[in-house]
This record gives sequence, C-alpha cells and structure tokens, in this order.
Amino acid sequence: MKETSKNKLSNKDVTMEDRFINTYTRTGLVLDHGAGARLYATDGNEYIDFMAGIGVSSLGHGYPKLVAAIAEQASKLIHVSNYFITEPSIKLAQELTDATGYDKVFFCNSGAEANEGMFKLVRKYGSSKNPDKNVIVTLKQSFHGRTITAITATGQDKFHKYFGPFTPGFEYAEPDDIEALDKMLGPNVCAFVFEPIQGEGGVRIISQEYLKAAEKMCRERDILFCADEVQTGMGRTGAILACERLGLKPDVSAIAKGLAGGVPIGAFLARGDAAEVLQPGDHGTTFGGGPLAASAALVVLSELKRPGFLDEVDRKGRRLRALIESFHHPIVKDVRGMGLMIGVGVKVDPHEVVSAAQSHGLLLLTAGDDTVRLLPPLVVTDKDIEEGAAALELALSDVYTATNLVHMV
Ligand SMILES: Cc1ncc(COP(=O)(O)O)c(C=O)c1O
Repeated sequence: MKETSKNKLSNKDVTMEDRFINTYTRTGLVLDHGAGARLYATDGNEYIDFMAGIGVSSLGHGYPKLVAAIAEQASKLIHVSNYFITEPSIKLAQELTDATGYDKVFFCNSGAEANEGMFKLVRKYGSSKNPDKNVIVTLKQSFHGRTITAITATGQDKFHKYFGPFTPGFEYAEPDDIEALDKMLGPNVCAFVFEPIQGEGGVRIISQEYLKAAEKMCRERDILFCADEVQTGMGRTGAILACERLGLKPDVSAIAKGLAGGVPIGAFLARGDAAEVLQPGDHGTTFGGGPLAASAALVVLSELKRPGFLDEVDRKGRRLRALIESFHHPIVKDVRGMGLMIGVGVKVDPHEVVSAAQSHGLLLLTAGDDTVRLLPPLVVTDKDIEEGAAALELALSDVYTATNLVHMV
C-alpha cells in the first residue's frame, strides 16, 4: 500500500457518523480520491477497488472523458424539469435504445425506481387485458431494491419484516424449477421478473435453459418477460445487457448502477406493445433523465461500444476467475460469474474475508451468506487484477489461519 498525502478528515472522524441515521455498517475508511481502479483514503493508504461503488463506477475513478463531460455539462445546464427535453437526454435515449435493441426508454434515478416503474408498466399492461391480471412473479433469493414494493418483489424473507403491510400481488418462484414455474404462471400473472445473475442474493447464475423456458411460457400466456439488469447491465457481464449473452429478449429491462459511471441514474427499456403502455400522467420523476446524468451516461455508452471494450471485460473476468481458481484455496468452495461480475463461494463468513482483504489493500463485497463478490471497474487493468488476486489470496489465508479451519476442512 502506498502512502498518499494527509488530508483534513482522518479515519478517526468516522465517529462523526453519529449524525447519520444508523443504516450502514461501514468499512471505517474515509475515501478521498481515486484513479482508475485505485482508491486513496485519508489514512494515507491506497486500495485496489474491486467494489466499484457496488458495480457503479464502471469507468473507475477520475476517468478523464467522464470528468470532462460532467464539467462541461455542469457549466451549461445541470437540471431542467421533464417539461423540457435536453440534447444529452435525447441523444442518450437514441443511443441506448439503438445499442440494446429496445424501442423506448424511461429515465429515473436508481435501480429501485427503475423497477418500480417497470412494475407499474406491467400492472397497467395486465389490467388492460383482465382486471385480475396483476400478479408479478419474481425469484427466490432475488434482490430488487429498497422501496416497499421493491423489497416485496425481493424473494428473500429477511427483507419481509418491519415494514408491512407490503404490496400485494407478488409471488416467488424457485430458480431453475421449470415445472414449478409452469404451475405459477397462471392467467392472473402479468409479469415474470428475474435477474439474469442474482447479485445481492449471492452471484447466483440462473440456468439459461430455465430462463429460455420462462420466456417461452411468458410469450404463450401473454405475460411480460422482464429483466432486472440493474447490476448485470451496462457491460458488467461482457455485453451491454447480460440477456444478450443468454439469447433472451425481455419485453422490459431495468438498468441503473453503471449506466452513468457514478452519477445517479436508472432507466427501464421496453419493446413492442410494452413500450406503448405508459401514457402521459401515468408515471414521472423530478430528476430522471436530466442533462448531467445523461451526459455522463453518453460517455459510458460510447466507451462500452468501442471495438473490443466488452471483449476485454470478458477476458479480464476470465483471467481474474482463473487466478482465484488457481489458488485451490481450502476455504474456497467455487468461483462463479460472467464478465467482471464474480462470486467466490467460501466456507467461512464472507465478511471476514472482506475485512482481511481491506487490511491487504483490497476492497471487496459480500453477496448472500457465503459469497465474496468482486465487481471491479470495467477498466480494471491486468496489473490491478494480478495485485488484487494476490491480496485476496493473502486475505483467504489469514481467515483460514485465524479460524483454525485446518482441522475442519
Ligand atoms: C438487481 C438489483 N436491482 C435493484 C437494485 C436496487 O438499486 P438501487 O440501490 O439503485 O435502488 C439493486 C441494487 O443492488 C440490484 O442489484
């Protein structure tokens, strides 16, 4: 870890946190600046960033084209309401629909808000066919966000407490059980919503066979087939959308996270009849689709479209997965993922690995109960990958030694 210049706030100042509503267990680091996949904290240390702001900072930190676009747009116009349209948002709508093959887009500010909009769209679609066609089927172990309806859609019991009554009309299917899904997709179902790879739920890969079968059943039963690509989208898996890689064509897809490289944004994309469902007065947002976020997203999209960029994401993801597999570490159960969305199943509490990694200068995430999650910026270099993997190996060994697993495995 390299030393950086000292700054005003020290890590001790995190005690100032008592002024925040106590919703987060934080790392204890006060971050100051970044460059590429490196972050610099006020403790004077450099960290390899394999979190990318939970899959948000797709172009890493301080990406010159992104910084310049934001600065230039800020000097022209930061915000107007959706009573008006601006050049960056028109351009983004055009380029994003062209790049993804969807017909239309609605811009908002976050993943949960994108899903909320998608749920409204599918409910209106269903009710136009039959007033009882309003059930939304999601998957167990899914994660769809933190609003009341998004936690309802989330197929994990731990989210279904304290905040009831929850939104009615959600049912949860067991991933990869085609027969069970066949029984659940009845006439009252208006949509089936899935993450192509379940992120927060544990980097769980849903089988292509199951998703293809689900798509077919949805088509046959006039049910909208909808992807939550908030985490998997915008290059993360080596394609603009993961569904492309899986040969799926959802009617609606929600995206957010990496879309504007760190500037808050969300969107849902729709095609065919689904793109015509929402009409004036049905939905809206104050900030969504503003010129600042749109300018940032245009830079991200143009980088993703550069020849070879997405192939590199795939290659770097394979390299990182191969390195981790090559450890044959006794506390590693498996290494899963697609592109630069990687889950390392571990036989210990993954938080212990994350905390050990931080002391070796590497920032990681957890997912589910047994998975360490790696979401490096898409511009991560081979050097970052080599050094990050080496730090992960040290962290795994620390945890292995500390928990005395020598006798257990
Ligand atoms: C698949 C998925 N959907 C929705 C969300 C919610 O996004 P946001 O936190 O931007 O509301 C997340 C966030 O982790 C996510 O991974």
